[in-house]
Amino acid sequence: RYRKTIIAGNWKMNKTPSEAKALIEEMKPLLSKTKWCEMVLCVPFTDIQAAVKAAKGSKIAIGAENMHFEKSGAFTGEISADMLKELGVKYVIVGHSERRQYFNETDENCNKKVKAAIENGLRPILCVGESLAEREQDVTMEVIRKQVKIALQGVAAEDIKKVVIAYEPIWAIGTGKTATSEQAGEVCAKIRDCLRELYGARAARAITIQYGGSMNAKNAAELLAQPDVDGGLIGGASLKSADFAAIVEAAN
Ligand code: G3H
Repeated sequence: RYRKTIIAGNWKMNKTPSEAKALIEEMKPLLSKTKWCEMVLCVPFTDIQAAVKAAKGSKIAIGAENMHFEKSGAFTGEISADMLKELGVKYVIVGHSERRQYFNETDENCNKKVKAAIENGLRPILCVGESLAEREQDVTMEVIRKQVKIALQGVAAEDIKKVVIAYEPIWAIGTGKTATSEQAGEVCAKIRDCLRELYGARAARAITIQYGGSMNAKNAAELLAQPDVDGGLIGGASLKSADFAAIVEAAN
C-alpha cells in the first residue's frame, strides 16, 4: 500500500450541533472495527465543537467544509485556518463544486486556500470534476487538469502528500446517478498521471484520490476496487450512520 484510503463525509448544510452530537455517537460503535481506513466527517462550522467532542475516543477526524485563505482581518462572515485548527479540525474541503457554482470559488481561490491550509497544518481535500456538458463535449480531462494544476501551483513537493484530491463529477452529485466504476477509475488514474507530471512518480503514488458523487452502501465496494480510487467523499450517505459505516466497511 502506497497510500491511505480515506472515507470522508461531507454533511453540507445539514445538522445542528445537538444533531451532530447524536449522529456521531450513533456512528462511533459502528466504526470501531476499522483497521487502516481513515475516517473523516466534514461538518458545518457551527457543528465543529460538538463534533470534535463527540468523536473523542474514536478514530473519526473532523473536517471543515470551507475556510478563508487569509489569517485574519476584515472579512465579515469568514473563518480562518487558525480558528479551525484551534478547535481540533484536521481536514478542510476546498473548491467543492457547490462552492464553485454558488459562491464564485475559482481555481485561483482554491490555490490560496490549499496553501493556507497546508501552512496551518490542515489537510486540504481539493475537489475537482467536470459538468455534464463538459463530459459530453469530451473535455473532462482538460477541465480537471486545469483545476488540479492551478489549485496546486506553488505547493512544495514535500507538502503534496498532505493534499487529498476528490474527483467529483458534478452530474453525479446528489443526483443518485453514480459514475460507473470504470469512469471513476479512469479519471482518478488520469489525475494521478497529472500529479506524476507535476511531482514525480513517487509523490503521485502516495497521494490519496477519492471519488465522490452518489457513493453509497451499495456501490462503494465496486468503486473502491478501482486501483486509483483511494476513498470517497460522501454527501447524502454520510448523514446516515448505517450507510456511512457500510461504506467504511467496504473500504477495509
Ligand atoms: O462532497 C460530496 C459530494 O458532493 C457527493 O454528494 O454523495 O450526496 O452525491 P452526494
